Amino acid sequence: MSKNPLRPYPATITEVRDESVGIKTFKVVLDDEEMMKDFNQEPGQCAQLSIMGVGEAMISITSPRTRSEYLEFSIAAVGKLTDVIHELEEGDKIALRGPLGSSFPYQKMQGKDLVFIAGGIGLAPLRSLINFVFDNREDYGHVDIIYGARSPKHLCFKEELFETWPSIDDVDLYLTVDGTDEDDNWDGRTGYVPDYLKDVDPDPEGRITVTCGPPIMIKFVLEALQDMGFEDEQIITTLELNMKCGIGKCGRCNIGNKYICLDGPVFDLTEIKELPIDKEL
Ligand code: FES
Repeated sequence: MSKNPLRPYPATITEVRDESVGIKTFKVVLDDEEMMKDFNQEPGQCAQLSIMGVGEAMISITSPRTRSEYLEFSIAAVGKLTDVIHELEEGDKIALRGPLGSSFPYQKMQGKDLVFIAGGIGLAPLRSLINFVFDNREDYGHVDIIYGARSPKHLCFKEELFETWPSIDDVDLYLTVDGTDEDDNWDGRTGYVPDYLKDVDPDPEGRITVTCGPPIMIKFVLEALQDMGFEDEQIITTLELNMKCGIGKCGRCNIGNKYICLDGPVFDLTEIKELPIDKEL
């Protein structure tokens, strides 16, 4: 989009949705129509969102480029900047630069069956790829989505989980929650995502898996997939650790000799195994 990757460009918030506990989704449109048209993010890429005088943060773009009239960001209120962003309303201004980072290898996935495995807000980066796949449905095979959250109230993207995605051909959804409260009215599964993955037991033949979620969930998901016989190249994940500048300048995101912002955030297990990342996963 931008000739100067360090320069944020003005944008307008056109919609704010309460997504789940402490998480809101912001629909954002760049003020420059040409820039918006040319933004062209790939599934899995991020953008830097900023508010003058407050700060900036790298956030996954959760909308696919096939819906190019807008960008969506699902944001948890976890600090000074995100707390301020949560106060913003439709019509308010924000600045953004991007797209930044690597993308999911969606071309390599064509013709394959796909398994998406996510926990909590980890569904946000996967959602850009899931909806990209559904917008190009004939290019991809069967889709399994295994998703869990702390409780029913913590599930993100409920309209898609319960209405839109189940109505799409050749898609199976497996939802679970860690636990419930009395008022949750939940008659679905209770338990952890890696255990549900083991029960679903997808056949590695012709399949690619994509996972994102809390580090402890990713650790057990990666172990389970390897036990099932998936090769390292069939296991893809996205890491969004400690990113600030997004362009390899600040040194905030390096793990070993890699920069998450330049070499990632998307990696397959072959690449993950080369990172000194044990303390992160
Ligand atoms: S975020 Fe600054 S070097 Fe990666």
